[in-house]
Amino acid sequence: MKRPIAYFAGTGRGVPATVFKNDEFAKMGIETTDEWIVERTGIKERHIARTESVTDLAAKASCAAMDKAGVAAGELDIIVVGTASPDRLLPSAAVDLQAKIGAGRAAAFDVGAACSGFIYSAAVAESMICAGTADTALIVGVEKLSGIMDWKDRSTCVLFGDGAGAAVLKRSKQHKGILSSFLRSDGTLGDLLCRPSGGTARPVDESVLADRSQYIKMNGREVFKNAVRSMSDAATRALDAAKLTGADIDLMIPHQANIRIIEATAKHANIPMEQVYVNVDRYGNTSAASVPIALDEAIEKGVVGEGATVLLVAFGAGFTWGSMVVRL
Ligand code: ACO
Repeated sequence: MKRPIAYFAGTGRGVPATVFKNDEFAKMGIETTDEWIVERTGIKERHIARTESVTDLAAKASCAAMDKAGVAAGELDIIVVGTASPDRLLPSAAVDLQAKIGAGRAAAFDVGAACSGFIYSAAVAESMICAGTADTALIVGVEKLSGIMDWKDRSTCVLFGDGAGAAVLKRSKQHKGILSSFLRSDGTLGDLLCRPSGGTARPVDESVLADRSQYIKMNGREVFKNAVRSMSDAATRALDAAKLTGADIDLMIPHQANIRIIEATAKHANIPMEQVYVNVDRYGNTSAASVPIALDEAIEKGVVGEGATVLLVAFGAGFTWGSMVVRL
């Protein structure tokens, strides 16, 4: 096992005030039921941003993480934001966040890895700490998927939610921190989960508005199969790299997309469900925010504390996937 280079000094989350329950879709005229959604996904409700922006949610999560880490915004060397739903396409969500929290001396940039965005961001920040270009990093996973999903498409709109999670990473002085990480992607499968229009290849025009292709389109069955396969593989890879097994893990925190994907991943990693953190029932799939929101909740509730060994695993559009073993 390598000596950790960076550790999680503090975590935080920021979620919208509005809770949207499954039965509210039917009231909007969408042909679905609470039973269908719960049975297929495990989701009961999600938070939807009505007034909050992505930057608002990210700032709330970031300030909480900095408070817990005892780090002021002016001490941050880098800000790395994983998001697929920024407030605006240019400049990055990270610089908007930087301005909002007053992190004047940081270099700020986004990482585009969809639901794997937080783990990718943590790995990038760790590498920069290792290279000596940063000592203190703010990493954030934040999404307002309610703004990019098709509220008329029952096969996707019931799945997603909004929120943010953040962590401060600092250079490790003790034997705690990131013990291993694994990142992978397969761009040949990009069309299975994407926003077909709205980029420079097909800018939004009347034809796009007519076919609603500015919103997320997904082949649910293919995504499901790939998510199970890739998250299971990622869990094993990070464990192997840390020379650990599922029995050494105090808590697995998987990307919260679907309870069936979570259960299959846990089974593959030989981790009993009692040691798997699940909040998909309360948040839905918040993409890049799901792992850090769950991590922050698990720490706050005392499910894990200092010295615990945690396995983070995620999968998302791209496809991208990744994992990390962290000693808290
Ligand atoms: N309510 C009621 N019926 C629905 C709904 C809904 N909300 N959505 C779809 N259906 C219907 C379909 O039309 C279909 O009807 P048909 O048989 O008459 O054609 C039937 O339910 C079955 O549809 P499937 O898509 O086959 O259902 P499945 O069991 O595969 O569940 C689901 C769909 C939940 C989307 C599943 O495929 C899944 O979870 N996939 C992974 C999705 C995911 O996790 N995405 C995100 C991962 S990556 C990231 O986070 C960005």
